[in-house]
Amino acid sequence: MRIIKVKNYEEMSKKAAEIVAAQVILKPECVLGLATGSTPIGMYDRLVERYEQEGLDFSEVRTVNLDEYVGLSGENDQSYRFFMNQHLFHRVNIAMDHTMVPDGLAADAEKACTEYEEKMDALGGVDLQVLGLGPNGHIGFNEPGDHFEKSTHRVDLTDSTIQANKRFFASEDDVPKQAYTMGIGSIMKARKIIVLVSGAGKADALAKMLHGKITPKVPATILQLHSDVTVIADEDAFSAV
Ligand code: F6R
Repeated sequence: MRIIKVKNYEEMSKKAAEIVAAQVILKPECVLGLATGSTPIGMYDRLVERYEQEGLDFSEVRTVNLDEYVGLSGENDQSYRFFMNQHLFHRVNIAMDHTMVPDGLAADAEKACTEYEEKMDALGGVDLQVLGLGPNGHIGFNEPGDHFEKSTHRVDLTDSTIQANKRFFASEDDVPKQAYTMGIGSIMKARKIIVLVSGAGKADALAKMLHGKITPKVPATILQLHSDVTVIADEDAFSAV
């Protein structure tokens, strides 16, 4: 793993945006794997700046998102589709039909998951996957468990994830209890991965991801086996390493 230690959230966001922008410039028709949550918001803001100020061109870029809550439509302002539209897609020149987020309202979950994998394969796989890190070591919504899930699937969210994400909802009861997520296998297929980590709340998970035993109990530890991972983490996140 390549490790880039930065001072704070702003520096992490800038560095991450530089890597994504370089990918887009080097391969304009690249496939980006994208994440939601608090962590990548600053990175998306920097990418929008580069689009506005330097003409960073997203017109040929394709995107696939890691996950979506079960039961939320793309119009729901808590859905990850809404998040992506708001923070990136509606602010740059990407074609909406080049963007993919799992459908939270899919009638047939199994079919939807199989099709999501097929669509990713049809795009030729992900060139650069952006990941955040859950305080419990999850990546995407691959929660701690007794085995690594291979492909896109529907998952029960753990109480710790529901607690961590309730800040985005009016009340804890409003947090969906299930999500669709790319599997660990889908994530590991990406040619390059960057992991963004900020804040003391992630310190334990970061230490385990970097130096812990590889175990599905801390899903991010699997990244130790990928050949091209760059971790960009700030000083607070490094406090337990
Ligand atoms: C989001 C995702 C999650 C988050 C993680 C960290 O698409 O896949 O794994 O990256 O829960 O969330 P934040 O950034 O809100 O701390």
